[in-house]
Amino acid sequence: MPRVDSDSAPFETFDNQFYPTPESLGRKAFAKFKEREITRLLEPQAGRGDLADVVKEMTGRYRSPDIECVEIDLANQAILREKGYRVVGTDFLRYKGASVYSHILMNPPFRDGVKHVLHAWDLLFNGELVAILNAQDVRNANCAEQRQLVTLIADHGSVEFIEQAFRAEDAKRQTSVEIALIHLEKASAEYTSFIDNLRHEVERKHEPAPPTASEIVVPRSFIENMVFNFECAVEATKQACIAQARAAHFAARFHRSIVEDEGETIRAKLLYKADPFNKAYDELKERAWSTVLRSSAVLEKLSSQAQKRVEASFKEICLLEFTYENIWGFLDGLISQQRQIQQDMVCDVFDMFTKYHSENRAYYQGWKSNDKHRLNAFRIKGTRIVLPAARRGSYGFLSSLACDDEQQFRDFDKVFSLLDGKQPATTFGLCDLFRSRWHELRVSARKTSDYFDVRMYAKAGTFHLYPRRKDLIERMNRIVGQARQWLPYEPTAAPEGFWQQYEKAEQIAAKSPKLQELANRAHSQWNEREREKAQEQAEQVHLAALKALGIKYDHSMLVEHERSQSAEQSQFPLLPDQRAA
Ligand SMILES: C[S@@+](CC[C@H](N)C(=O)[O-])C[C@H]1O[C@@H](n2cnc3c(N)ncnc32)[C@H](O)[C@@H]1O
Repeated sequence: MPRVDSDSAPFETFDNQFYPTPESLGRKAFAKFKEREITRLLEPQAGRGDLADVVKEMTGRYRSPDIECVEIDLANQAILREKGYRVVGTDFLRYKGASVYSHILMNPPFRDGVKHVLHAWDLLFNGELVAILNAQDVRNANCAEQRQLVTLIADHGSVEFIEQAFRAEDAKRQTSVEIALIHLEKASAEYTSFIDNLRHEVERKHEPAPPTASEIVVPRSFIENMVFNFECAVEATKQACIAQARAAHFAARFHRSIVEDEGETIRAKLLYKADPFNKAYDELKERAWSTVLRSSAVLEKLSSQAQKRVEASFKEICLLEFTYENIWGFLDGLISQQRQIQQDMVCDVFDMFTKYHSENRAYYQGWKSNDKHRLNAFRIKGTRIVLPAARRGSYGFLSSLACDDEQQFRDFDKVFSLLDGKQPATTFGLCDLFRSRWHELRVSARKTSDYFDVRMYAKAGTFHLYPRRKDLIERMNRIVGQARQWLPYEPTAAPEGFWQQYEKAEQIAAKSPKLQELANRAHSQWNEREREKAQEQAEQVHLAALKALGIKYDHSMLVEHERSQSAEQSQFPLLPDQRAA
């Protein structure tokens, strides 16, 4: 049984045979490469990046090397990303990314080491491969795969056996297994071979035969079509590279042009280095993923802020191989996060309603607020919401809304149809209203959409929204209140007085302009002393207002209850499962 170094972090991935490469062995392995200039290096079982760190260390002093990583363990993937590595795939044995690698450096799980090396050899066009394997795979080659490996070594490379490599002082996880350090070189540096390899690869990719024209025209499914289009685009790009390389090859048989710049030869411009293809491939991959993201029916329903948040994590996603499995994995991730995403969307709109005009807020004493800042919670008033317009004055002369206002109204439409459990396309929203009744709205007429009556005051540069569905405003207030711990998830967790002061917040605000002013001041005050002073005064006024209304409520008597998961679950209608649609 291998010993785990007590100083090292726990290796939860024993099943995946996680043995980080000791730095000393990593250096030895990297030193096997003959070509020092890395176009793109693949680490196909990257673990937590120990081997990649060595590559960076040994090459990156002046220029950080282009490294792509594949790793099956998702926790390890997260560590790799944190370290700044590009994770392009999960299971290497199923990986068929089309990047052209000049180097592959690997320490695969010993159990399937040979399979991993043979797959890596298949992926390699023209370059070198160094692998750390169990010595037994070479010394006692019993099965067909092991024998194939031995033949490869004989024809294309060399092997060095090392004992106790994982017993070195710098081994984070130790084992006494003897290892074989294998070095393989694929093809020659002749670009003609590169062309042959590419051609071979193109042919291989075409097996089984491409679908018939009718299959292309009649979509099998949106995603299948996307993947198919992507593969066609990759192959076309490869063929363009072949054509360019061939052109350069024949051009190199002539003398250099007299007008050509001194110093730079045609040969140097040859495309047999993989750079141009890799660049084109990366770009294609990003565009393909962007298309999935933009056309995904899930994203269409998200507010602009929510879309931005998804797009931020998209940078990592679009490094992944563009395969059917990865696309579903991505959509599954989105669907599993939809409850949180929807809650964030509601909070975003709540903030848009309340951040510009403090008059849109009605304050109440929050549930989990500390003693000093009890009056920090607020709800949207259900009577009228005043919002600033992107353009002031000029609106009266224009023929449509400014983009920013339209975007904002689109977000409102999405969130209100979500709160109502409907699809945005089936409701008459603010955007529809402004498009169809612009001329009346422009002269401040009051017009009606499904969820709001609206007036626009062009000169003042404001929109006044009059909610028509108080139940949806209340729903929004509750969702935001619970998300921000201003309200308990379980209604019975709070005494009656708490709910009375919450429900009457608007009435209290209307009766006590002083309270509103003090609470606003406490909310926006930067100076801590001033803020606390305003808080205390606001609370006094609030308590007096409660007393006047006969509401008995004492915050200090509250007992905090744990969140009720079931109450949380019932908050939202789910987005329809895309696959069921
Ligand atoms: C011996 S460790 C090497 C880790 C890393 N290369 C290093 O040198 O530190 C093997 C790694 O392969 C990963 N692995 C196992 N099966 C894999 C697969 N099919 N595809 C990709 N990674 C795999 C394991 O999770 C583990 O991180």
